[in-house]
Amino acid sequence: MDATRLFRVILIVAILVVVLCGSAFLGIVPQQAWPDQPSVAHHRLAATYREACGSCHLAYSPALLPAASWQLVLRRLPEHYTQCLSLADDTRQTLEAYLTAHAADRSTQDLAREVLDSLGRAWPKRITEVAHIRRVHQTLAPETWARPGIGGRGDCAACHPGAQYGEFDRENAAIPRS
Ligand code: HEC
Ligand code: HEC
Repeated sequence: MDATRLFRVILIVAILVVVLCGSAFLGIVPQQAWPDQPSVAHHRLAATYREACGSCHLAYSPALLPAASWQLVLRRLPEHYTQCLSLADDTRQTLEAYLTAHAADRSTQDLAREVLDSLGRAWPKRITEVAHIRRVHQTLAPETWARPGIGGRGDCAACHPGAQYGEFDRENAAIPRS
């Protein structure tokens, strides 16, 4: 092989590597779902979710409820607990696709499996009603939840510093003293 041909082969291989890695980076090549290998597309969706659903309370980790529960929440936006929410139709559809794809019945996280196992066929509208979530907090006295530093049972971040990343390990939980 003369030098020019060798150079041409090296060039073609280099171009192929760049194209393949580049498309994987842009999320064109399907990647494993969050949280193991977040793609750029995933980060964009997660940002949309935080913006639409993280202003009044924590943008709850999708793995805390099954897909059917998220669909119930998103299809009843005008009766969002005590609030009336409205979202553009395409935003609502984007959020539904995102939450469904990472819901307890799709996620590979241990917590997702524990949530799902505890539910049977129930589709609660609240994370605080999930049997597993109630069970892990049984050791907390009722007075604890009433402390001013805690905005109720749904205020996960008050005691779990990693709540926004879906991290709830008991070793890291810290209850505000007041
Ligand atoms: C305008 C404020 C507001 C926005 C925006 C908002 N919520 Fe809520 N959300 C609330 C209120 C108020 C509650 C009830 C809190 C309570 O009863 O303690 C709630 C409760 C929830 C709960 C139940 C929490 C529990 O108790 O287990 C879920 C799930 C939830 N919201 C999901 C969402 C999603 C998904 C979005 C985005 C589409 C969203 N929220 C946007 C105000 C909001
Ligand atoms: C008042 C503080 C407080 C709030 C609010 C709270 N937690 Fe916890 N959570 C704890 C404590 C403390 C533990 C550890 C309990 C134990 O060791 O018996 C715990 C344990 C857990 C565990 C089990 C962790 C493990 O290592 O097995 C999960 C999951 C969890 N919480 C999720 C949540 C979610 C989701 C929310 C919000 C919907 C929430 N928590 C709100 C204090 C809180």
